Amino acid sequence: MSDVASQPPEPSERSRPELTNRQGHPVSDNQNSRTIGARGPATLENYQFLEKISHFDRERIPERVVHARGAVAFGHFEATGKWGDEPIARYTRAKLFAEAGKKTDLAIRFSTVIGGRDSSEAARDPRGFAVKFYTEDGNWDLVGNNLAVFFIRDAIKFPDVIHSLKPDPITFRQEPARIFDFMSQTPESMHMLVNLFSPRGIPANYRTMQGFGVNTYKWVNADGDTHLVKYHWIPRAGVKSLTEADAANIQATELGHASKDLYEAIEAGDFPQWDLYVQLMSDDEHPELDFDPLDDTKVWPENDFEPKLVGTMTLTANVSDHHNENEQISFGTGVLVDGLDFSDDKMLVGRTFSYSDTQRYRVGPNYLQLPVNRPKNARVATNQRGGQMSYGVDLDGQNPHVNYEPSIMGGLREAEYPTRDEQGPVIEGRLTRARIPRTDDYTQAGQRYQLMEQWEKDDLVRNLVELIGQAVPEVQQRMVWHFLMCDDELGLRVGEGLGIAVEDVADLPPLQSQTLSEAELRRLERLG
Ligand code: HEM
Repeated sequence: MSDVASQPPEPSERSRPELTNRQGHPVSDNQNSRTIGARGPATLENYQFLEKISHFDRERIPERVVHARGAVAFGHFEATGKWGDEPIARYTRAKLFAEAGKKTDLAIRFSTVIGGRDSSEAARDPRGFAVKFYTEDGNWDLVGNNLAVFFIRDAIKFPDVIHSLKPDPITFRQEPARIFDFMSQTPESMHMLVNLFSPRGIPANYRTMQGFGVNTYKWVNADGDTHLVKYHWIPRAGVKSLTEADAANIQATELGHASKDLYEAIEAGDFPQWDLYVQLMSDDEHPELDFDPLDDTKVWPENDFEPKLVGTMTLTANVSDHHNENEQISFGTGVLVDGLDFSDDKMLVGRTFSYSDTQRYRVGPNYLQLPVNRPKNARVATNQRGGQMSYGVDLDGQNPHVNYEPSIMGGLREAEYPTRDEQGPVIEGRLTRARIPRTDDYTQAGQRYQLMEQWEKDDLVRNLVELIGQAVPEVQQRMVWHFLMCDDELGLRVGEGLGIAVEDVADLPPLQSQTLSEAELRRLERLG
């Protein structure tokens, strides 16, 4: 194991490499600053000291605004060449999936969401599951979470949901009263809450958790035909979670148990694996469904849309430097390759702007030149020049005077492939700000509760009661109302724990922002 305690003993003093500064100057005294006389004062021309301290002063870059703490590993993806039994080329022309046995290098970053860079990995929190495939057509990032749905369905609400979950701007404590204040006014969060406050909300470690793309993407085949897709990573080691009590025990002595577990397994040669399953739907609105396939607060029922295997990921190596390969690795939902595309999922569009925007701020405008971010298996030839920390120029045989296009003087030319830029169904509509029509915020949340084992239901109710009990009475009542709309038993049990009866909430009108479906209206009538 390559932890510091198991390093081979140091060779003799004389055979060890000599220290230099970044200019290549030898450092012959690294203990004493340069001073006038042994007792000072210090001189300002002491370049060696100034360089050492000023680099140290800048050792940290801003931590990620979300997902600050994470663990990175490297490995490969091996394709089956099929979607279930069918040739995958029927659905996507993406080369990484095309042939059975084809391997693609990858990096993965697992993370927690809300805590800072040194926070506990046993927190109740979604986990990030971000994979960067270094394909021959350039990089593809699949930036997912361990829970299959999300709190909101429109990116414009992301800063609000995150502010509610992050520490209070004055007390700097995560406050359940603030979280449930926001959630009680955000009915689309119910499905996520039922997941997050169940044992699924604290995965046992990174090796035994699922990963979901969450948002809906598209696959495009050689004829330009498109399908809607959802991605699911299933760990071969099974799915394991912690109860609140287990988590409290772990974080009493160790904040980074999940990173440690992953690192040690890989160092020991116990390489973790996940199978990638994909659900497909024809690329249309699917009026027969009671939800919208572009709504990330919904799952696609597996009986109707069977997830089928497309390949397996194996992790075989740890990082060689935390800062270079973990702090600076940069994923984004806009990073797609030919044969994979966006859908009109309103979260996905917003995410696609946000990731590279924050990375230009967090890492710098040339973040894509860094080894962990640049395409390892594809050519890069751009006309981009300059910017802070520009490292190299990707000339690739181009006339170095020509950093523009078009040119007949030896500059870069446009690629010949892909030639087709027209695909998918025609869409029409007036410019508007409107919610999607089929919101149904409760049915799937209720079904999720009904599918739980008894101990999971008990754990969920206990967690909800404990935390919602810290919110103001109006928020508590509204949460009970929402849970009654999801499932009678869930609503009654949470209400009982909070001392709120059905009669106390039966007269609450729907939220102003809500338009209830027929099914939801029937449920509301039953409440009365
Ligand atoms: C990280 C924005 C929703 C998964 C981030 C970061 C931002 C962000 C700004 C920090 C990136 C960085 O500093 O490199 C958003 C916005 C969302 C959204 C605006 C909604 C509109 C989601 C959803 C998922 C997700 C739905 C799961 C499917 C992740 C993951 C990371 C991340 C895994 C960490 C990536 C890493 O390890 O570097 N997000 N996010 N996000 N987000 Fe989102």
